[in-house]
Amino acid sequence: MCGIIGAIAKRDVVPILMEGLKRLEYRGYDSAGLAVLDYASHQLKSQRVTGKVQQLETKLKNAPFSSTIGIAHTRWATHGKPSDENAHPHISRNTVAVVHNGIIENYLALRRQLEQQGYQFLSDTDTEVIAHQIHFFLQQNNDLNSAVRATLPLLKGAYAIAVMSSSAPDCLIAARLGSPLVIGIGVGEHFIASDAAALVPVTQRIIYLEDGDIATLQRDHFQITDISGNSVTRGEQISRLAIDTMERGEHRHFMHKEIFEQPRAIAETLEGRIYQERILSAILGPQADDLLAPITAVQIIACGTSYHAGLVARYWIETFVRIPCFVEIASEFRYRQPLANPRTLIVTLSQSGETADTLAALHEAKRLGFGPSLAICNVPESALVRASDLVLMTHAGAEIGVASTKAFTTQLVCLLILTVLLGRHRGMSVEVEKKIVAALLSLPRQIETVLKLDAQITQLAEQFADKQHALFLGRGIHYPIALEGALKLKEISYIHAEAYPAGELKHGPLALVDATMPVIAVAPNDALQEKLKSNLQEVHARGGQLFIFANHHAIMQQSDYIKVIELGTLEEIISPIVYAIPLQLLAYQVALIKGTDVDQPRNLAKSVTVE
Ligand code: AGP
Repeated sequence: MCGIIGAIAKRDVVPILMEGLKRLEYRGYDSAGLAVLDYASHQLKSQRVTGKVQQLETKLKNAPFSSTIGIAHTRWATHGKPSDENAHPHISRNTVAVVHNGIIENYLALRRQLEQQGYQFLSDTDTEVIAHQIHFFLQQNNDLNSAVRATLPLLKGAYAIAVMSSSAPDCLIAARLGSPLVIGIGVGEHFIASDAAALVPVTQRIIYLEDGDIATLQRDHFQITDISGNSVTRGEQISRLAIDTMERGEHRHFMHKEIFEQPRAIAETLEGRIYQERILSAILGPQADDLLAPITAVQIIACGTSYHAGLVARYWIETFVRIPCFVEIASEFRYRQPLANPRTLIVTLSQSGETADTLAALHEAKRLGFGPSLAICNVPESALVRASDLVLMTHAGAEIGVASTKAFTTQLVCLLILTVLLGRHRGMSVEVEKKIVAALLSLPRQIETVLKLDAQITQLAEQFADKQHALFLGRGIHYPIALEGALKLKEISYIHAEAYPAGELKHGPLALVDATMPVIAVAPNDALQEKLKSNLQEVHARGGQLFIFANHHAIMQQSDYIKVIELGTLEEIISPIVYAIPLQLLAYQVALIKGTDVDQPRNLAKSVTVE
């Protein structure tokens, strides 16, 4: 999704803006731009490109800018195709420059009114109305802050904006409603960004703006107000993001680095949460026991990969806690009018904590009268974390690759921890808890072992390079892992991939199987393995090419059409977490061969902050 960075300082801000844009690239974008105030001419200057930040950098090398105040943007197209004209900043009458993340739903009506006032539109975007509208009010009272405050109530939809004007050369204004925005505090300088990651090189001192906040930044001073101009106070945080988490190191892509970081990410997620083989009950905070004791059902809400983590958790919660667990895609839940039960715990899963659908579904669940809410999230202070009664953070570290990997496996770790905490209120024995804890503690080591399959999977990947389609099969708790494997493959290699519970094969998808169709099976040694083997025989009998991930190579006789990748003996409870790893590696290696943009696959965004 779009990324915003802005700076006001006593030094040249252009390198800060460019570095910030690079750090926002992971969010996904298709064009980029920046605007600064040229002090000599008192004019706004801007540069915009379709494509990558690097292209913007090249343009600026040929015609350098420098200034002590500026705003910049990476755009992910919503209204209007990716093009130079539609890229931000949008500038009104050489006086007001605006960058925006979000969607203005009533932009057409506003555009018509502004056109009647004589404003000429140069783009197809919804954002351009904001620039002209601010300019319209600025003409009337010559005060940028008042002009922004007069404009915001007219906007229907979601926004995070940064505004600057040649009429107010020493101030930057930022505002948010529904889209994330942070302020960075420096010495004699202040910054605005979509997330703290963009500000890592310049400051760790961060303030997360809340919906309705308007921030006015000057070099030595800043103020946050509400829409009426009343001062509001927001707490300062020290960002935990370190510079090294934002670097690729020896890895070619962030995704590869993040796959290999999983043993450490899981160890850090477990850190401080286990004592004497048991989960510490205090980790959810003092009110957790009171909130969890009456719970009789769980409703999980999430999108994409996070939704797949929820599907795995359903098996754990129903097996170990013995209460019903429902899992639903957030964009469906929010419009379905589900039947609310105040004893149903709402669990939201999100890497970013800013996914618009998940946030809206949580608000809808609250409105309908569901029970308490718990967020499992990787970004502290994200909107989802702030809107939830209870929070269980995944300590995965910043995930930059658009394809989620370590966020997924650490979500699963948190969901298993939650299973124990819920189970305690429903008679889970100490023995079962200790077994789960032992399995969790063994995870980093087991994943280290599985990561050694990378070379073998690299060879396997060559057989996928010319394929158009792939089928993933799993059964039981490993079916969601097949779904996740298929999502990873399609996201970054652009190969069409589907996942099915293997028992469903003969009810339709078997028709697709022939010698050109690779079929990837997640086949651990569990109670359903024999059933799965029969399903695989059905594929083999129709000439399908089988790639089987199993505990032991003896699951099926290897041949030109059957390849078995052996993962070794695994503890059954954590087996889905471990089986996710080789599928991530497979998707990565196939994408590498296909030469796709692994970390920023086409059309996708890391943080989906619009509906
Ligand atoms: C994962 O690889 C995807 N990029 C995507 O499905 C993602 O999981 C989804 O958009 C949800 O994001 P969240 O976890 O930040 O809410």
